[in-house]
Amino acid sequence: MNLPPEKYIGEIDGEAPVLEVELDDFEIARQENVANLPPLGLITNVHDFEHVAKNILPKGAWAYYSSGADDEISLRENHYAYQRIYFRPRILVNVKNIDTSTTLLGTPTSVPFYVTATALAKLGHPDGECSIARGAGKEGVIQMISTLSSCSIEEVSEAKPEGATQWFQLYVNEDRNVTKDLINRAEKAGMKAIFLTVDAPSLGNREKDRKAKEAEAPNVKLADDASMDEGSSRALSTFIDASLNWKDVKWIKEQTKLPLIIKGVQRLDDVVKAMDNGCQGVVLSNHGGRQIDTSPPPVELLAEVVPQLKAMGRLPNPDFSIFIDGGVRRAGDVLKAVAIGGHDVRVGVGIGRPFLYANSGYGEAGVRKLIQILKDEMMLTMRSLGTPTIDDLDNSFVDTRRLIGRDATDMLYNNVYMPLQTVQFANHGHNRHDV
Ligand SMILES: Cc1cc2nc3c(=O)[nH]c(=O)nc-3n(C[C@H](O)[C@H](O)[C@H](O)COP(=O)(O)O)c2cc1C
Repeated sequence: MNLPPEKYIGEIDGEAPVLEVELDDFEIARQENVANLPPLGLITNVHDFEHVAKNILPKGAWAYYSSGADDEISLRENHYAYQRIYFRPRILVNVKNIDTSTTLLGTPTSVPFYVTATALAKLGHPDGECSIARGAGKEGVIQMISTLSSCSIEEVSEAKPEGATQWFQLYVNEDRNVTKDLINRAEKAGMKAIFLTVDAPSLGNREKDRKAKEAEAPNVKLADDASMDEGSSRALSTFIDASLNWKDVKWIKEQTKLPLIIKGVQRLDDVVKAMDNGCQGVVLSNHGGRQIDTSPPPVELLAEVVPQLKAMGRLPNPDFSIFIDGGVRRAGDVLKAVAIGGHDVRVGVGIGRPFLYANSGYGEAGVRKLIQILKDEMMLTMRSLGTPTIDDLDNSFVDTRRLIGRDATDMLYNNVYMPLQTVQFANHGHNRHDV
């Protein structure tokens, strides 16, 4: 039963009436696509999953998953920034055996990337976060579970295979008892860390999402006064307490013995504050470009803060990890981030939308395929790079000299901009190239 209580008016008397709904062209095409899904064997990279999702998801779900804030500059830069980093492969290294495994927060993992927290997985697939838990767990990949998941903490935890690791992403509610209860439930369900998201005091201005108001939010616990009238993002935002500050971090630390990591850090002094407040790490993240537009691409920030923290004597520090997410679409991106951290700091890399897309199209099998694609890419890149293990990676393998810059253009601005015209001849005569 997914209806809010005020919408429930009683049992249906007899047979439920079949409603004749007229489908628009988009919906007809979408349903045809759903019936003709490409076989998983034909999916060759992460972008293929996005292409499939774009063509099978209902408008509202696609808008909620894919949208970024304002002009979506950060959304696109998050990805492009990785392409401004070049590798410096080392030759004649014995790369017969490649090992992609490592540890994150002390837990073994088959790869240095993890599934980061994304809300509302049921918008794309009826099993929601549970099929992601099954797929990730079977591939030895850690899953972070959102406070705003469409399955409960307990359901997602039950779905994971024996021995799999899950982390809990915490949004803090105005009512601290709600927060306390969430932390207790996460602990009971065996989550191994708490990631406190701090970059969403109110949710960003996601215009694609607002323009697709018809998004439905199945089985999600929304604050009572949440309305879906302005798209999924706005509806969810009412859960989050905008008064959250460093004093609350202290309070959260008192509620749990689990490692506490601050998610959504965007500047050096906040990394230092997280260290000073006894946190075990930070996630350098701009929420996948969904919060404040033109906030820095996380990999650019990583390359900036690691040497600065080293110069300040704050790194190396074996008790502090740096995580990073946003725009990762190739295993090479993951390796670049890990290399920048090198032996100064353990870097874990979060991947968000690609898991929602793979899950939307193919459920658990899609999630596993996505991970296998990234694992294959990772083996290939590590072999060509001359780094047989994750520990071999350091910043000598990356050239970040061209990293600072920007590639994304303002599409909305460009679309509405009317270019200036050159002077016209009185007879509107021919231009040379017309003759
Ligand atoms: C649809 C969607 C929902 C998200 N929900 C949450 C959330 O509930 N909590 C959170 O901390 N971050 C959330 N995020 C942000 C992700 O954790 C992560 O920062 C971002 O997706 C990384 O970018 P990527 O999608 O390019 O990999 C969400 C992102 C997306 C795309």
